[in-house]
Amino acid sequence: MGPLRMNYGLAAIGVVLLFMVNNVSSIGANWGTQTTHNLHPTIVVKLLRDNGIQKVKLFDAEARVLSALGGSGIEVMVGIPNEMLATLASSMSAADRWVERNVSAHVSSNNVDIKYVAVGNEPFLSTYNGTFLSTTLPALQNIQAALIKAGLGNRVKVTVPLNADVYQSSTEQPSTGDFRPGIHDEMLQIVSFLSQNGGPFTINIYPFISLYNDANFPVDYAFFDGFSSPIDDNGRTYTNVFDANYDTLVWTLQKNGFDNMTIIVGEIGWPTDGDRNANIGYAQRFNQGFMSHMNRGTPMRPVPVDAYLFSLIDEDRKSIQPGNFERHWGIFNYDGTPKYNLSLGSNSGGLVRASNVHYLPRRWCVLSPSANLQDPQIALSVSYACDRADCTSLGYGTSCANLDAQGNISYAFNSYYQINNQLETACRFPNLSVITTNDPSTGTCRFGIMIQPAGTTSGGFLLEPLSFLVQMLVFVMTFL
Ligand SMILES: *[C@@H]1O[C@H](CO)[C@@H](O)[C@H](O)[C@H]1NC(C)=O
Ligand SMILES: *[C@@H]1O[C@H](CO)[C@@H](O)[C@H](O)[C@H]1NC(C)=O
Ligand SMILES: *[C@@H]1O[C@H](CO)[C@@H](O)[C@H](O)[C@H]1NC(C)=O
Ligand SMILES: *[C@@H]1O[C@H](CO)[C@@H](O)[C@H](O)[C@H]1NC(C)=O
Ligand SMILES: *[C@@H]1O[C@H](CO)[C@@H](O)[C@H](O)[C@H]1NC(C)=O
Ligand SMILES: *[C@@H]1O[C@H](CO)[C@@H](O)[C@H](O)[C@H]1NC(C)=O
Repeated sequence: MGPLRMNYGLAAIGVVLLFMVNNVSSIGANWGTQTTHNLHPTIVVKLLRDNGIQKVKLFDAEARVLSALGGSGIEVMVGIPNEMLATLASSMSAADRWVERNVSAHVSSNNVDIKYVAVGNEPFLSTYNGTFLSTTLPALQNIQAALIKAGLGNRVKVTVPLNADVYQSSTEQPSTGDFRPGIHDEMLQIVSFLSQNGGPFTINIYPFISLYNDANFPVDYAFFDGFSSPIDDNGRTYTNVFDANYDTLVWTLQKNGFDNMTIIVGEIGWPTDGDRNANIGYAQRFNQGFMSHMNRGTPMRPVPVDAYLFSLIDEDRKSIQPGNFERHWGIFNYDGTPKYNLSLGSNSGGLVRASNVHYLPRRWCVLSPSANLQDPQIALSVSYACDRADCTSLGYGTSCANLDAQGNISYAFNSYYQINNQLETACRFPNLSVITTNDPSTGTCRFGIMIQPAGTTSGGFLLEPLSFLVQMLVFVMTFL
């Protein structure tokens, strides 16, 4: 009973200490680089610091990115792409080389604070049909062994970021959770290995996808500000799907004998475009809600959640196979401007934009006023541009949904022109396009101006010369 007799002064210190110990979770961010135009890594590192983001998760181990993080004090999770798993699984020396080149070198000579190696990225995703099922664990084992050999076994922990589809529940109640049949044994082996080596369980949780996949999903349950029909799980109350999902994992781990496994939320976020549920309002509601919620934790684990926002910056070269929203997860636009106000805890005044960003000149490529909308070359030109550039802001429920047919065509032309660094020849859609200095943006629809390509002063690359399109058109026309 001693502590109860503690005077108020000591109690206050106790509370402060408890607060410090319990409240070490600051938000992290995923930094992906699948873009046509990357902000220079030193600009991104400054962006992270200006916004009080103290940890970052990468999808690979690019030297230029890790160099920029050197001496920043930012904690780093480096990643190994799924495509490398087979090699690392079958060759210990490949794993040694990977660790030497992509961890040891940066830790020792570049002062990068590497804390984790993420082996693979959602390798057990059900849509991969088991492609990485047999290589993930051996790759994990080899990387762990290589880290120990390199003397980094205590300092750098291994993990495998997994999608929440590795577990499921038979009802909406988290306590019915278990690993997905078909990967149950593989999951147990991975969890045992992580547990033996002090590696955390990293899980990506996406309430947006719940809403995207199921038209009947209750919208309010995706967010954190209350739900009229909460789910009761033997006295535990769930008012948001994040808590329910996270606790399904807690129950799953517990059921399989891993009560105390550390959990990291590797990805959490909401996209802003490309779908009717992907917009600024929802993204802000979700991310700000999560920021307030994360320190409270979940009913099963009422302690601060360790999490990385997905994502820092939009990536206009990501595959849109999952959906058009895939290129719009950033809390920042491609140029490092904030999309909406978001308090990340340290910066109560909202997000700070990237500094020292250089843009191409203020000009746009649009449909020529003299073009005939019945011109059969229009459809071909638009699909040519959209295939090679980015038209994911067009269509139902998007930021440019209100454009008329002309606006749509202009948007496609401009996207192609900007991605090709405003090369004059990238605005030569036959008799259809013209360059303008009047910003065609209207309402929520932004006609972007590209940032200057990193490491170049002018000019740039053309994805494929437009003359190819002209030839193709001539070819098609001869058959009409
Ligand atoms: C280090 O990581 C990079 C980026 O993921 C990769 O391309 C490279 O092959 C890795 N180096 C070694 C030696 O495996
Ligand atoms: C998985 O299987 C489905 C159906 O057989 C197929 O359409 C898809 O391309 C496969 N995906 C991969 C990554 O192999
Ligand atoms: C979990 O941690 C608690 C408290 O530290 C301990 O009593 C318990 O034995 C641990 N359980 C397992 C399965 O390690
Ligand atoms: C952010 O909030 C400030 C006031 O707190 C407001 O002036 C500003 O317009 C907001 N920005 C956005 C992008 O909503
Ligand atoms: C604009 O383009 C989108 C995507 O191709 C299409 O869904 C929409 O119907 C178009 N709108 C008009 C007015 O042509
Ligand atoms: C462009 O228009 C001119 C004049 O109307 C015409 O002679 C020419 O064939 C057109 N070019 C193409 C590629 O359609």
